[in-house]
Amino acid sequence: MKILVTGGAGFIGSAVVRLAIARGHQIVNLDALTYAACLDNVASVADDPNYAFDQTDIRDRAGLDRIFSEHAPDAIMHLAAESHVDRSIDGPEDFIQTNITGTYNLLEAARRYWIDRGRPGLFRFHHVSTDEVFGSLPNDPAKLFTEDTPYDPRSPYSASKAASDHLVRAWHETYGLPVVLSNCSNNYGPFHFPEKLIPVTILNALAGKPLPIYGDGSNIRDWLYVEDHADALLLVLQKGELGRSYNIGGGNERSNLELVRSLCTILDELRPKPEGSYADQISFVADRPGHDARYAIDASRIRQELGWTPAVSLEDGLRKTVEWYLNNEAWWRPLQQRKGVGVRLGEKV
Ligand SMILES: NC(=O)c1ccc[n+]([C@@H]2O[C@H](COP(=O)([O-])OP(=O)(O)OC[C@H]3O[C@@H](n4cnc5c(N)ncnc54)[C@H](O)[C@@H]3O)[C@@H](O)[C@H]2O)c1
Repeated sequence: MKILVTGGAGFIGSAVVRLAIARGHQIVNLDALTYAACLDNVASVADDPNYAFDQTDIRDRAGLDRIFSEHAPDAIMHLAAESHVDRSIDGPEDFIQTNITGTYNLLEAARRYWIDRGRPGLFRFHHVSTDEVFGSLPNDPAKLFTEDTPYDPRSPYSASKAASDHLVRAWHETYGLPVVLSNCSNNYGPFHFPEKLIPVTILNALAGKPLPIYGDGSNIRDWLYVEDHADALLLVLQKGELGRSYNIGGGNERSNLELVRSLCTILDELRPKPEGSYADQISFVADRPGHDARYAIDASRIRQELGWTPAVSLEDGLRKTVEWYLNNEAWWRPLQQRKGVGVRLGEKV
């Protein structure tokens, strides 16, 4: 299948690109190369005859029309987005323009292309979204996000993703565009941009800097190894029912404090300090405004209907991730120079 992947130079998009190429698909990677992108993420497939890169911004409708006519994809996996909640608090404009208007542009370009080609039944528009659209859960293990949980986004990031989800469903109901959607919990793994919690913790630990924990560290997230997410996404694209959405999650709930302590334990073993533990560097800082208390996914639909199961446990995945950062300083060191990385963002309102 020839798949147009948007955001394929980012964290999750690049995992999708690498996996899809390994499985013999043709990939057109469309990415604007914002601060969050890194073409090194796809260096391992860059010379593959099934891989093409096209630097285009999803805010550029004419550019999207050109890509569809030049590359004639069979399907789209739409991952391009502004993705960092703290940046959305400081500057929501880019989130509105890329996540909402950009998705609208892509839907319209896809719809025009699909109609011009005689509405092929196998065409798919897969919209990749987040569990953050569902808002915040109380700390009750019986309460999980299902596909029927009402939307209740609480940050500019999650509100912009919720808006894009609504647009995608509307294009299916109104125009019959063949769409599938997925909403995933927090991802982690190799190539995670060094402004997110797990890489910040690993890299600050190694640098002897404080390990910042927002608030009291009790906020709970449900973690999924990025390669398991990429596997689920290809499954949803190929087997998902039209118009349907699938929640994706690993069933790995941890508080931020528990997660950071686990990383410290792994680092203590793999790169011991002369004395003491990396956990001694934990430092509690002012909380994020509107910080959601808990996210937890009920992934029974994708497990039962599509037969998906994650392959990597949280313990193994965290260890693999720490090892990857220890072995790939040449990847992360230059990214730490990018604007806003390594400074506290999204603090004041
Ligand atoms: N990271 C997570 O834990 C997580 C969880 C669930 C869902 N998601 C969703 O998955 C998708 C990918 O997330 P990620 O963490 O890989 O993000 P990322 O920030 O690492 O990568 C985003 C990519 O999109 C590109 N991009 C941004 N604006 C663009 C534009 N206007 N035009 C073209 N390309 C543009 C960037 O250059 C970058 O390569 C997003 O839609 C996000 O909402 C992320």
